[in-house]
Parts: sequence; structure tokens; C-alpha cells
Amino acid sequence: MNPVATPSIQIDVRVSQRSERSLAEDVLDGLTRPFKELPPKHFYDARGSELFERICELPEYYPTRAERRILEDRADEIVAAVVPVELVELGSGTADKTHVLLDAMRRADVLERYIPVDVSESTLRACAERLCERYPGLAVHGVVGDIERHLSAIPEGGPRVVAFLGGTIGNFTPGSRRRFLRRVGRLLGADDRLLLGTDLVKDAHVLEAAYNDSAGVTAEFNRNMLVVLNRELGSEFDPQDFDHVAFFDPHHQWVEMRLRARHAHEVDIPGIDLRVRFGAREELRTEISAKFTRDRLETDLGAAGLALEHFYTDPQELFALSLAGPSAAIRRGGRAAAGSAGARARR
Ligand code: SAH
Ligand code: AVI
Repeated sequence: MNPVATPSIQIDVRVSQRSERSLAEDVLDGLTRPFKELPPKHFYDARGSELFERICELPEYYPTRAERRILEDRADEIVAAVVPVELVELGSGTADKTHVLLDAMRRADVLERYIPVDVSESTLRACAERLCERYPGLAVHGVVGDIERHLSAIPEGGPRVVAFLGGTIGNFTPGSRRRFLRRVGRLLGADDRLLLGTDLVKDAHVLEAAYNDSAGVTAEFNRNMLVVLNRELGSEFDPQDFDHVAFFDPHHQWVEMRLRARHAHEVDIPGIDLRVRFGAREELRTEISAKFTRDRLETDLGAAGLALEHFYTDPQELFALSLAGPSAAIRRGGRAAAGSAGARARR
């Protein structure tokens, strides 16, 4: 029997790789600008997701290990503070570290439902099946969608922790980060909490090594965006025409990944009727990965109507996990209280 058809798994598909208009729009918009740029969500087809999993294992890429360590140290405390019956996870990927939270919820005997949201359908389906096997009786309600556009597709309920792990919030531009946090804040009832993973500002050498690994996996991940364009839009990029570039920008406090053309050339993109010219050494930005201080994070959360309640780090202070809830002003305004009461009534 196909496990996806079992009653404990429901998957709602809001985007699919093929029907997704946003790739065409993003490519047209991003490759016709004077400074070329594409959003990082387009890394994550099945191959891109696999490459990201390999990145997480690399000796230079510390964020995954550091965040796991914080979860291991703090999961019981987080669960005791919120007493969530469900876990919503934005950009869930393979949900490897999520087990630590789900185990703590099971130990506390509160775990009922897991709601992963990810743009990568294959990764989400595989993750839902794995988790149902590992946690018998767990209801999994996945949403294949873009977290910048489809938060309204998340089923209602609670009390819940809404987790956004891995530092993926750092991949948003500052403006979209605040907009996104505001929207996430509106999802939270008074008893719900956001659990947010953020990479921290640190020595530039450590940061740059994490994005320039010696095995070349990050370079392949970066070039994979061109492979996605070739498959989805019929272009004929040769990924080997581009060098992987990653550096820390101390002014913006973010790491940037770019693809630098090795020589001047032109590429046809039939799916959007576009011929793009790259000059020799011209760069295409594919990702920013913002690094945070506690102050910067608190300011961003505050601007989104969220109050920081706990700020946990690993012993080396490489990475942080923050627990945040609707701020007092928002709670007084009644939105969160109504959300929570509504959630309770639905249970
Ligand atoms: N949370 C996991 C995975 C991080 S990788 C971890 O901590 O290891 C980033 C994940 O976010 C990928 O699975 C990718 O498919 C997903 N993602 C990136 N941009 C997204 C978007 N706009 N909407 C939904 N998912 C997105
Ligand atoms: C998913 N995201 C937080 C990763 C990061 O570190 O910004 C993606 C990544 N890019 C290169 N390596 C990993």
C-alpha cells in the first residue's frame, strides 16, 4: 500500500515544480537586471535538496551540528514552556533535526500532529512517510508551498510551535524577512510560539569556509540552480561556464553566493523567450545568508510584533535558537487571544 494514502498523512500541494509560475517570473525579472540575481528557493529540486543534505554533513558547515546541539540541550525545556500538541515546520526539508523536538513532545505525551511546509515536493513526501513510520499514530499534514506566498494554506490548530530552523530566515532579503516574520506572527495564537534558528555573526574565515568547502559540494549546490533552469525553462546553461563564489560581506553581515561567468557568452532561455548575455567575470547572485546578533534579531522580531522570550546558543555561540511569542501589545489587541481561542475551539 502506498503510505501517502494512509489516513495519517495528508499532503496539500500549492506549488509544483512544473506549474510554478514564479520560476519563470523570477528568472525574467532577475536576469534582465543590471546586477543579475535569482532567489535561493530555486536551488531545491530533488538534486538540490540532496546536495543540501550533503552540505549539512561537511566538516566546514557547522550550522546544522550547532543547531542540533541546542535542540538536544533545550527541546524538553521548550516543550515544557509551550506544551504544544503540534509542530508546524517551515522549510522543513528532510526534518532530520526535527526528530529531537518530536521526541521531546512524545516524551511529554503531547504530540498529535506535524505540519511540514516546503517548496520541494519530493523531499516533503519522503519526510512525511519517514515520520509516520517513526512515530506511530502521528498525523502528518504537509503543505507543498512557498512560505512567502502560501502561509494561509497551513491548517489551523494549536497550541503549536512554529519552527523555522537551519537559518533559512537568513536567506530572505531584509525587507522580505520583516514582511515574512510579520505574517508568521499573525499565524500565532497567544499560546503558540515561533522557534527560529539563526546563524550568528562570527569570524569571516569560519563563515567563508562554511560556504567554500574543500569537497566542492557547495559549488555543485550553487551550480544546480542552472540545472533547474535548464530543465524547467529549456535553457542550455553549461554549469561549468560558471565559478562558484562565496564571501562574507561585513557591511551587510551576510554571506553571498554568486556564480561568476568564466567567459563572455550568451544563453537562450526558450521558456521565457529570453536571450541573456553574460560578460566575462560577470556575477549572478544566487543567495544571501544573513548572520545575526541577538540585538539585530530582537529588533527584527519586535518590528514584526514578536517578543523574544528565550535566546539559546550552542556552547561555542556559533548558532542561536530563539523562542518568540506575540508581543504584549498584539495580545492586548486581541488578535492572538482570538486566534488561540479559535484554535482551542477547533480541537
Ligand atoms: N529546515 C531544514 C532544511 C533547511 S534547507 C534544516 O534546518 O536543515 C532550506 C529548506 O527550505 C529546503 O528544504 C527548501 O526546499 C526550503 N525552502 C527554501 N525556500 C523556500 C520557500 N520560499 N518556501 C518553502 N520552502 C522553502
Ligand atoms: C538553507 N540555508 C540556511 C543554507 C545557508 O547556509 O544559508 C543554504 C546553504 N547555502 C550554502 N550552503 C548552505
